[in-house]
Amino acid sequence: PKEGEENLRSPICCIMGHVDTGKTKLLDCIRGTNVQEGEAGGITQQIGATYFPAENIRERTRELKADAKLKVPGLLVIDTPGHESFTNLRSRGSSLCDLAILVVDIMHGLEPQTIESLNLLRMRDTEFIVALNKVDRLYGWKTCKNAPIVKAMKQQTKDVVNEFNMRLTGIITQFKEQGLNTELYYKNKEMGETFSIVPTSAITGEGIPDLLLLLVNWAQKTMVEKLTYVDDVQCTVLEVKVIEGHGTTIDVVLVNGVLHEGDQIVVCGLQASINLGPIVTTIRALLTPHPMKELRVKGTYVHHKEIKAAQGIKITAQGLEHAIAGTALHVIGPDDDIEAIKEQAMED
Ligand code: GTP
Ligand code: MG
Ligand code: NA
Repeated sequence: PKEGEENLRSPICCIMGHVDTGKTKLLDCIRGTNVQEGEAGGITQQIGATYFPAENIRERTRELKADAKLKVPGLLVIDTPGHESFTNLRSRGSSLCDLAILVVDIMHGLEPQTIESLNLLRMRDTEFIVALNKVDRLYGWKTCKNAPIVKAMKQQTKDVVNEFNMRLTGIITQFKEQGLNTELYYKNKEMGETFSIVPTSAITGEGIPDLLLLLVNWAQKTMVEKLTYVDDVQCTVLEVKVIEGHGTTIDVVLVNGVLHEGDQIVVCGLQASINLGPIVTTIRALLTPHPMKELRVKGTYVHHKEIKAAQGIKITAQGLEHAIAGTALHVIGPDDDIEAIKEQAMED
């Protein structure tokens, strides 16, 4: 297709890193929400999903004077837990994404789950951007709310800049020890070989415009083929949950294709707690949170007749009680062999 004519889906970006580096808080900062403060113990224990429409990204990156370049409809961000006990959720999250943000606390440097996340991403050849978070904790940091990072750095005293450079150099060395070249994004001349670092604060918002712009530009520039929309449904179950008024529901990430209300679907299930068996059911309702709201947080839902990828969706249907998180959802088309699809569903 010609320039500008690509039919692209939204990129899926996973946010990963060690516990308490500020993954959820960064998303809160972009969303204008307070999800993190509502978490038990301030710890994320589930995979989340938030859809950011292109117009919000454009708005948030305006100061970088790069508008009108967005070719993707939006960005779907998958939040993951950093606590050591949730390796399976980090693995599930990273398996779904096109690209990732690896969050590092500038005061702590690389930590065990930073390295674990890094290795999960490398295993799948997933490109990522490092968010070097909590820059506002540098001693004497002058707040420049939501400012691009270069502009914010210009406001800092020599001492702050020195501390920043010292910590940055140490962290680049730590990455080097993991076999990875990293560099501040605005000095990085060889993106792809050298991973970019974006200094951020989730509390005061410095560097957020840079992070968003870099993500979207990088996706559009290097992943056109991967992001070209296809009709084949590719969909993964994130969570199985009982929601008051809706019964047992499944939260899914639709990576490609379209889902419709009334679609016949197959998901992998566990019967009598021991036997695996396919669950065949019909989509009763397709729900999403409002844009810029977290799927895993209870709120009001938007009903859809159909939804196109990529999206985080809550599906209500009968018989989902024993559905298994982490498995694929299949749609039975009018010409499909239901038995073959049932078998396929059990292979995941
Ligand atoms: P898990 O999901 O549990 O792994 O943690 P997380 O990485 O999502 O971190 P979270 O958003 O829960 O933030 C952890 C703590 O760090 C909270 O108390 C936040 O308020 C604080 N925090 C996060 N980002 C920043 C930041 O940029 N600056 C400062 N000063 N504090 C931050
Ligand atoms: Mg979190
Ligand atoms: Na936390």
